[in-house]
Amino acid sequence: MALLLCHSSKGGTGNTFVAAHLALALVEHGADVTLLSTAAMDSLPLHFGLPPSTRLPGFNAGADRAVVASGISLRNDPRAPADPDFAATLRDLGFLDNGDRVLVLDVAAGDLGLARALLPLARAHVCTLPAAPESLSLLPDYLDIERGCWSDHSVVAINMLDETRKLTRHTAAFLRELLGARLVGRVRRDEAVPEALASLQYLSRYAPASAALADVAALARAVAPMLERPTLAEQIVPGRSWIA
Ligand SMILES: Nc1ncnc2c1ncn2[C@@H]1O[C@H](COP(=O)(O)OP(=O)(O)OP(=O)(O)O)[C@@H](O)[C@H]1O
Ligand SMILES: [Mg+2]
Repeated sequence: MALLLCHSSKGGTGNTFVAAHLALALVEHGADVTLLSTAAMDSLPLHFGLPPSTRLPGFNAGADRAVVASGISLRNDPRAPADPDFAATLRDLGFLDNGDRVLVLDVAAGDLGLARALLPLARAHVCTLPAAPESLSLLPDYLDIERGCWSDHSVVAINMLDETRKLTRHTAAFLRELLGARLVGRVRRDEAVPEALASLQYLSRYAPASAALADVAALARAVAPMLERPTLAEQIVPGRSWIA
């Protein structure tokens, strides 16, 4: 199973929205997808038209407790960031094996330690950044080897882009210049995104012509080939276990 890590060190950037829609796109391309969120207050069910009261099973709960939406096994485990054996358990459960299955992991912004620990095991890390000035000012921290959460497999998706606003347009242009090929997609700000959540509907059903929907589909097309590459752990020292 390929691990696709979705994490941004800043909260509220649209990380969960992007993770949910990457998972949906991967399923459409025929992958067997599990989507796991580590957030304590989880908004993941809303992206699948499920009520906020939906309780998702933990990552190691049995198949009998599975919540499946659009073919995706949805899971939530807020204990994962504090569990020192989390990565080892993922491996033991077969989540990190090679194969056609994909684990999309939505790691909450504050769970930097977990995100860092998972980086070497991930085939791709998608970091969502809003097209806002704070993204520019925080970028050095993001990329910092000590403080940040960043690897050779990290790419950026700009979110909440509004081309009609000079500031977000210019911020996006700066980000493009600074990140170069690391920037693999941009998602436009689209009121249909929160509206779909509020009406407990899939975005694709609520607003099939949504600009953000088209953009996350394009993002998924850019990210999918990255899942074929070896992880950093496989590349650097073949056979070495990166899991304590
Ligand atoms: N492209 C977009 N256009 C408009 N609204 C968006 C867009 N992307 C995300 N949002 C909205 O922004 C809010 C935050 O999104 P989301 O929950 O995905 O962010 P997050 O980074 O996972 O936040 P948290 O740090 O709380 O986990 C939600 O209300 C979501 O609907
Ligand atoms: Mg989130």
